[in-house]
Amino acid sequence: MKKLIIFLSIIIVIMFSFFIFKKNQPEVKKDYWDEVKRQIKYFNTSNLERYKEYKKINPNMKINQIVLDVNIGIDKPFYTNVRSATNLNTSYILVNKYNYLEEDYIPNNLTNINGIKLVDCAGKSFINMINNAKDENLTIIGISGYRSYNYQNNLYNKYAQIDGIAKADTYSARAGYSEHQTGLAVDVSNSKLPYTEFENTEEFSWMSENAHKYGFILRYPKYKEKITGYTYEAWHYRYVGVDVATYIKKHNITFDEYYAMFIEKN
Ligand code: DAL
Ligand code: ZN
Repeated sequence: MKKLIIFLSIIIVIMFSFFIFKKNQPEVKKDYWDEVKRQIKYFNTSNLERYKEYKKINPNMKINQIVLDVNIGIDKPFYTNVRSATNLNTSYILVNKYNYLEEDYIPNNLTNINGIKLVDCAGKSFINMINNAKDENLTIIGISGYRSYNYQNNLYNKYAQIDGIAKADTYSARAGYSEHQTGLAVDVSNSKLPYTEFENTEEFSWMSENAHKYGFILRYPKYKEKITGYTYEAWHYRYVGVDVATYIKKHNITFDEYYAMFIEKN
């Protein structure tokens, strides 16, 4: 009898300890994510499970980077977890390898500028910019502005045929995923060198210093390929408005990051 009581007591102590342990475990975790939510403004509760998964795979990554990457979509491969773009017909529309435009999306207020088309506000600012560059004896021309879904489709398919899909994806957007369809993106050249050599021109140096004053950003910068999904393009500029462009330049971030931090609704 005495043995039985001792045995039962041990069992009760073990069960009680286990209960206390279990009770404490989830609370610690819950507190952790509650704290993260309190601290990070762009924390999105609907992404909580993805934050947890991504943190498991990247245990040493800072928590704000975890949250930001997941908000952008980087925890999933490009083109696998996509959604229809929102904020249509605004200067802060986001189009990338996670956010696409419908086949029939044509922006409002497209205007002709020296042979290309841009949305009115972007076009006016572009003209202002190239005129001011001209005052300093620099020539900046727009060589590609708005591109329709079908035009982009043909372009991408042509590149994919020449270089294969994997390579084409590093420099060309699939139809629906090109910023050119927003009418807010423009490829430039100095009219003398091929656009692919724009980086080596005085005009590029001038734009690096001044484009943000006209609301334009270099959309696919060097070393940001993991975020943008594209290799560096010194010639591709995107109109986002002066305030956003100034912030992006000052903090050396991409529009994808800016969007996830400040525009995306949580
Ligand atoms: N070259 C850029 C990424 C585009 O195709 O839109
Ligand atoms: Zn471009």
